[in-house]
Amino acid sequence: MEYDVAFVGLGYVGLSTAVCFADRGINVLGVDIDSKKINRIKNADSPIHEKYMNELLEKAIKKNRLSLSRKVADVTKAKIIFLTVGTPSRKNGSIDLKYIEQASKDIAIAIKDIEEYFVIVIKSTVVPGTALKIIDNLEKHSRKKNSIHFGVIVNPEFLQEGSAINDTLRPDKIVVGVNSEKDKKIIYKLFKKIYRKNLPIVYTTPSNAELIKYANNSLLATKISFMNYISRIAERIPDGDVNEIKNAIGMDKRISESFLNAGLGFGGSCFPKDVKALIAFSKELGVNSEILQSVLAINDTQFMSVFNILNKELGQLEGKRISILGLAFKPETDDIRDATSIKIIKRLLDKKAKVRVYDPIANNNTKRIFGSSITYAKDSESCIRNSDCCIIVTEWKEFKMLKPKDFIRLMKRPLIIDGRRIFSKKQFNKLEYHAIGLG
Ligand SMILES: NC(=O)c1ccc[n+]([C@@H]2O[C@H](COP(=O)([O-])OP(=O)(O)OC[C@H]3O[C@@H](n4cnc5c(N)ncnc54)[C@H](O)[C@@H]3O)[C@@H](O)[C@H]2O)c1
Repeated sequence: MEYDVAFVGLGYVGLSTAVCFADRGINVLGVDIDSKKINRIKNADSPIHEKYMNELLEKAIKKNRLSLSRKVADVTKAKIIFLTVGTPSRKNGSIDLKYIEQASKDIAIAIKDIEEYFVIVIKSTVVPGTALKIIDNLEKHSRKKNSIHFGVIVNPEFLQEGSAINDTLRPDKIVVGVNSEKDKKIIYKLFKKIYRKNLPIVYTTPSNAELIKYANNSLLATKISFMNYISRIAERIPDGDVNEIKNAIGMDKRISESFLNAGLGFGGSCFPKDVKALIAFSKELGVNSEILQSVLAINDTQFMSVFNILNKELGQLEGKRISILGLAFKPETDDIRDATSIKIIKRLLDKKAKVRVYDPIANNNTKRIFGSSITYAKDSESCIRNSDCCIIVTEWKEFKMLKPKDFIRLMKRPLIIDGRRIFSKKQFNKLEYHAIGLG
């Protein structure tokens, strides 16, 4: 075999995992149907922004540990094939499996006449029962038998954008949904080379592995929406402050301090889609999912707290200059899929406000949505200059460097809405400072 593993789909998950595996000495083949993406990766020019990505990619290409192809048929040159294609939402929120079905069909056709035993690893996020559908698909198009000619493993991914490389190399857990001892041995042998010490592997069935991923993300999303709900209460109490509540309850080990920040809601390509997919899946099973519906309802309306403040402070927004710091759905990424900034900008434009935005790396992606209907600043200072209000939408470190005097000096009116609680209320009390969860 020419390669140890192949990845089908080189997005955030596929490319991050591929370069990390290559860095551990594994020979990797990366496949994507997007030829522009393949050309960029070949030139060690990462299509996604991730810390350490460019260095690892360059090293992998130089050492010949990462080869690239646009043809799924080439996966037969590897014995372990990871499926890392997207699994987007349908209009009704349920999961759309078209990419994974197409990729597994292409793999089946490719392996049809080859004697080798292949292991296909589903890394994309999929609802319980999908592995069984993929097995049917593979058997139908390859005329081969599961467990005899190939095996299927479910290995969901838990990396976070912005820290994808670190999360991939040092995961809290590795979930392996596997039914056969043979496949278990094959995947263990590979993972041992990558994760080396103290492999935190959880072995389970494929369906449980599929559900673990949704339970994991839905619980994290629930923590965020819960704190946003508490922030709404705190805002209505004169000296209320959700941060003080967060600090205290985070000390309780049963709760833990992570994912307790109130803000403008979660976005990105995973939480909204995964929560919706679990709701739709629960419905199919006749299970009530009011808890997750509330999580989404809070999230969908959380950005409106900005407009409550704007209405009170500025009244009519027509012609008002509003500056927005931060566009990406979270810091350290240029991903704006389902980002809160989009909802805020759309509503500001509806109200005929003049919008100027700045993000250290997501300006270009935002341009693809809003074009010339808004203006794009090259730094924070030029973004807030002469504005009537500044809204902090993403908690980038560089915004934390701004001092109250910068806002006073540059803005027409130093009205700040801190949507991510990046400033200290004490330091900013000379300004018109408003923040999520602050009474
Ligand atoms: N992005 C994250 O932070 C994250 C984290 C954990 C899990 N996941 C899950 O991992 C999966 C992938 O997510 P992503 O964000 O990397 O997606 P993505 O949209 O960034 O990338 C998917 C890639 O698959 C390619 N593709 C589609 N069909 C193909 C085919 N038939 N053959 C070859 N390539 C094909 C696309 O061109 C694209 O480059 C999803 O199921 C997602 O829910 C994502």
